[in-house]
Amino acid sequence: MGTEYLIQEGGVNIMRSKASIQSHPIHPMLVGFPIAFWVGGFIFDLIGARGSNAGLWAAGFYSVIAGCVGAVLSAAAGVIDFLYTVPPESSAKNRGLLHGGLNTFVLLLFIYVAYRLGSPSAAPDGATLLLMGIGVVILAISGWLGGTLVYRNQIGVDRRYASAGKLKTRTIESWSKPVCNQSELGDGQVLMANVGTERVVVGRCSEGLFAFSDHCTHKGGPLSDGALVGCTVQCPWHGSQFDVRTGRVVAGPAQEKIKVYAIKISDGEVYVQPSELEIKPRKAA
Ligand code: FES
Repeated sequence: MGTEYLIQEGGVNIMRSKASIQSHPIHPMLVGFPIAFWVGGFIFDLIGARGSNAGLWAAGFYSVIAGCVGAVLSAAAGVIDFLYTVPPESSAKNRGLLHGGLNTFVLLLFIYVAYRLGSPSAAPDGATLLLMGIGVVILAISGWLGGTLVYRNQIGVDRRYASAGKLKTRTIESWSKPVCNQSELGDGQVLMANVGTERVVVGRCSEGLFAFSDHCTHKGGPLSDGALVGCTVQCPWHGSQFDVRTGRVVAGPAQEKIKVYAIKISDGEVYVQPSELEIKPRKAA
């Protein structure tokens, strides 16, 4: 690894979960626990309250506690994904914020429920059951948002296009440092570089190397995770297509062009210019 830039070795799909075990995201593994325990606890207490069943009261109490523990563990992995996987300034960022906010509210609600119950032998009163019911409903809404984050925004999904290779992501210390060597990218391949607050994608098409913003102008989808076909990149979220040479919209729903950057190649090293420029096609050596 050179001092010019830090490379995350092995290539990382940009929306692949950063909290994972052997490429398996941790957050989805854990979310089932608070859902099962809190919903189960609510059902135990609901049935137990009707029949004055102390055994079910105890099961409800312990389920609420277990749900809170599971929620904290699940949240830790979720926060990592929110910070490091969800693209900034995207609709998924707002959705993730709402998802996390609702889950935090539900966690606090069930902690309060456990406090109200006080012990495994306590019978749940009507207000406690109502609070638990509200918590379960909000949990369902939050779960729906979580599903949208995965199935619509593809957060945590590990996708690879044929011939695209493994996506490399890099953090470049300054614009004066090379982003990559031109030999690193084959036709149809891209890499993503964080330079300051900007996320710049460098890709190679039949006409050479081009640099463009990672940010889709529709809803902020990460273009580095899309497909580069010819000199057109397609956003993975809703399919907008952009010409990487000029940034112009080839197909919607996006209506605004993406930012493109001029590049300079010196001794095989690729430098991206910081200002937005209308670049001319450059033949790679
Ligand atoms: S975010 Fe909708 S097409 Fe890119």
